[in-house]
Amino acid sequence: MKLLTFFAAAAVLSAAACGGNSVPPANRPASGDEGAAAAFVALPSASEHKELSVRGEEVYKKFVCGSCHALGGDRQGLTGPPLGNTAERHLVRLKGDELAVRRWLWSHIRNPEAHPGVYHGDSAYSAKMPGYPQIPDEELRALVEFLMTKR
Ligand code: HEC
Repeated sequence: MKLLTFFAAAAVLSAAACGGNSVPPANRPASGDEGAAAAFVALPSASEHKELSVRGEEVYKKFVCGSCHALGGDRQGLTGPPLGNTAERHLVRLKGDELAVRRWLWSHIRNPEAHPGVYHGDSAYSAKMPGYPQIPDEELRALVEFLMTKR
């Protein structure tokens, strides 16, 4: 009996130690830091950045981000913060690390709860940024490059 209790406790402990990783990878949205690191192994070249950001603007439209965000500096009465200087804001926060800002944007758009932005919990914003696990990786990469032009 004592031995059984020991095994039960061990099972509970090992499940707790695994935490979020106990969910099989296939059932997890590609929202983790692994996804961001895989999408941005290195900085894109200048021409790649340009090409991706043009496609990214289409992705921005396709997923109707503009229903909540203005692209200039003015909020224009919308639900979310204006994205006019998103790249600049996070480059300052992450000390000029271009790669880290791209990875953060990726993770934030996938799962804002786990990777909150600077306005998270700000009383000026009563709504929350919804997560987008459904954006295909290539499109999200382009979308992030588009947001990197906002500086
Ligand atoms: C239903 C409204 C809504 C939609 C749709 C939406 N957002 Fe947001 N977003 C918000 C709100 C509200 C915040 C600020 C509060 C928060 O982070 O929860 C935010 C925060 C952000 C931030 C962080 C800003 C910062 O500097 O910290 C980025 C980047 C962003 N959104 C990009 C996007 C993109 C890209 C899309 C489309 C794929 C999108 N949002 C769709 C409401 C929305």
